[in-house]
Amino acid sequence: MVNKQNSQRSHPDRPVTSPIAFLSERILTAYLRYETHQYLTLSASNQKHLPAPQPGHAYTLYIHVPFCESLCPYCSFNRFISTGTKIEQYFANLRTEMRQVASLGYSFTSLYIGGGTPTINVEELVKTIDLARALFPINEVSCETNPNHLIPEVVEQLQNKVQRLSVGVQSFDDELLKEMNRFEKFGSGEQILEKIRYAAPHFLSLNVDMIFNLPNQTEEILRADIEKIKASGAQQTTFYPLMSSPSVEKALKKSMGKVNNDREWYFYNIINDELSDQFQPLSSWTFVRGATEIIDEYIASGDEYVGIGSGAFSYLDGTLYVNTFSLRDYQAAIQSNGSGVTAEQSYDRLPQLRYTLMMALFGRNVDLPFVRKVTNSELFIELLFLKLVGAFHKNKLTRLGRYLSVVMMGEFFAGVNNVRDIAKKSLHPDERRCAVVNHYKGLNDYCSVPILRSLF
Ligand SMILES: C[S@@+](CC[C@H](N)C(=O)[O-])C[C@H]1O[C@@H](n2cnc3c(N)ncnc32)[C@H](O)[C@@H]1O
Ligand code: SF4
Repeated sequence: MVNKQNSQRSHPDRPVTSPIAFLSERILTAYLRYETHQYLTLSASNQKHLPAPQPGHAYTLYIHVPFCESLCPYCSFNRFISTGTKIEQYFANLRTEMRQVASLGYSFTSLYIGGGTPTINVEELVKTIDLARALFPINEVSCETNPNHLIPEVVEQLQNKVQRLSVGVQSFDDELLKEMNRFEKFGSGEQILEKIRYAAPHFLSLNVDMIFNLPNQTEEILRADIEKIKASGAQQTTFYPLMSSPSVEKALKKSMGKVNNDREWYFYNIINDELSDQFQPLSSWTFVRGATEIIDEYIASGDEYVGIGSGAFSYLDGTLYVNTFSLRDYQAAIQSNGSGVTAEQSYDRLPQLRYTLMMALFGRNVDLPFVRKVTNSELFIELLFLKLVGAFHKNKLTRLGRYLSVVMMGEFFAGVNNVRDIAKKSLHPDERRCAVVNHYKGLNDYCSVPILRSLF
């Protein structure tokens, strides 16, 4: 069914180089870059443990598994090449930290496991999910994976444990997959498509993560990617705009080319138009096949969350807590019954309201009265700007409004990446070698010896 809002909005918003879209994107980007750099910074934390939960608050549990079989040049998440690491020990530490969180009095009904690659050791992953279910009344587990793990050995172990599986594909185009260092390890576009077709029926929802506006992605490639999504049987897809950060800029440029944001709005329109006969927007960048579903991303829920694992973030009562990015320090902290938290940042009312505004705009079926209500009508200038550029029409969020929320999210994630870059400074030199793509050469060139073995 064609989405009504899409069909109504597609024509007025449509021109390839809409000056309003271009200008509002630039103004918003400059403003948010300033804001996020001011607020998304870190100071050392003396917290021994996270604060206790507050009555009446709902929390999501996030688990971070920072290992990958190959490193993608655009990615600034906390992740290490997995060669030679003692992954079992890391999962054991996660379970210890989970027990600590339970002893603080936290309870969770939803669990999100992200990475890195959570399915890197499926037996350990299953043990960890089982413990979470034993400690907390978990209704729903969401988990990220990579295409090479959509095989019977993994899928059969996960199908009754994980309700929502999210697989990173980025593009089905073989040349782009090679540039992203994903072809060799995760397979060709055709092989990936086959694996998704096999895995999708085993889960309540299988989401496919895609990236648009990759430097060498043409309109034809994007359209072909969308057709493959439709043919894949996946129930959900997320199209992220390519986001850069200082720590990946060089590697990204060297392996994939220079990022050009001028095409982003045009590509966003193509994605919305081409998906609209089978998918409807669930958030500004996630689309679901047929009926309404819930959003997968833990950060998009707007709720407070507790993050465990190296490089995980927790957001509790207006304060962001960051776990150490160093595997070695994480191990030492957890084994001495300490906390993985090494840094924190508290936010005043205004930045908290701006975060609320961004999350509200990002959701589906948003209207101006709702946005005014959740922001207490305190963000007058921001709302005036959004109204003036056409983000609302008859109080309803337009496609341009949704795109501007993608721009806001992109800048927010750039700020989060900045925090990650700061946090990565705590890495020991040998860890850094296994985490940072300095020179893109190809698979296995990041870390020729299993250096991380010495960490545990
Ligand atoms: C961090 S990965 C973790 C799961 C898994 N390893 C994977 O590659 O999908 C989750 C998703 O984040 C998205 N992502 C990571 N870095 C990004 C970037 N710089 N720009 C846009 N999307 C990005 C990719 O779509 C990726 O699939
Ligand atoms: S995008 Fe690539 S490097 Fe980043 S977590 Fe996924 S597989 Fe690992």
